[in-house]
Amino acid sequence: MEAAQSQYSKLQSQADTSSSLISISDQEFNLIRSVVYEKFGINLNDQKRSLVVGRLQKLLRSHNFLTFKQYYDNLVADNTGQALNELINRISTNYTFFFRESAHFDFFRAKALPEIVAIMKRDNCRDLRIWCAASSSGEEPYGLAMVMLEYFGKEYGMWDAGILATDISTRALNMAASGVYAAEKLGHVPSALRQRYFVNRENGMQEVAESVKKEVTFRRFNLMNERFPFKRPFHIIFCRNVMIYFDQPTRDALVRKFYDHTVPGGYFFIGHSESIRRGEVPYEYVMPSVYRKN
Ligand SMILES: C[S@@+](CC[C@H](N)C(=O)[O-])C[C@H]1O[C@@H](n2cnc3c(N)ncnc32)[C@H](O)[C@@H]1O
Repeated sequence: MEAAQSQYSKLQSQADTSSSLISISDQEFNLIRSVVYEKFGINLNDQKRSLVVGRLQKLLRSHNFLTFKQYYDNLVADNTGQALNELINRISTNYTFFFRESAHFDFFRAKALPEIVAIMKRDNCRDLRIWCAASSSGEEPYGLAMVMLEYFGKEYGMWDAGILATDISTRALNMAASGVYAAEKLGHVPSALRQRYFVNRENGMQEVAESVKKEVTFRRFNLMNERFPFKRPFHIIFCRNVMIYFDQPTRDALVRKFYDHTVPGGYFFIGHSESIRRGEVPYEYVMPSVYRKN
């Protein structure tokens, strides 16, 4: 009877504290970070502990888990993929905005595109393949599509071009597909592009024009997949501001795969704060965070 009473008080006190933060033990944090690392390559160091607690609170509560261990047990038992999907939607950082690190867009327009287009014209080939890996909520690939439309102008119809944009987060991909953004995301969009490629919506929101949307194909893709399923290599790959979340061996292996999926003469763009280790992959250094395959 006493034992039952004590068990009841325990549950009662858990219920009473349900509005306070569910805390995480060292062991629970290690379990969750190992899943995130194995499945998504994201390296959650000790400093990310409070981030994990904060970002997963709502999820635990919505499923009525009282502890992170309960949540973890459910996560590993689920074989539908739904629990992992919810986890990465919460854990991934999707921060981005239009024309972020704008020097890359200038280089893309002034150097990479003209150079690749000249080679393709010479070879009588019109199938221009661009991949924006880790495209988050779409600002990056839509920006690239705008630059491309401007660059080709009327000639665009003669090209089989377009952008493949991939990310692991379905939440980010859904936002991308809607193409509707708060005005502050457009702060770096040149005014001519803003006028041409955005439509005013309610409450100051801005929607990307259909002419741009149709040039970008969004797909869910995990960069940790053993194999990249693409039949043909890309002329240009953007993979910016995601490798910062991976450890060095994961980055090295990933960059090698990107290299194998770049056409000779093609370009590889990474984030300004990222770099490729010299000697690890034979990409040629062009300028900070821009590389080329010889
Ligand atoms: C900070 S955003 C970068 C967005 C954009 N590339 C930029 O530079 O502004 C990082 C993105 O990487 C995605 N990501 C994280 N791990 C991934 C993985 N294993 N596979 C694919 N995408 C991943 C996240 O969902 C997130 O949208």
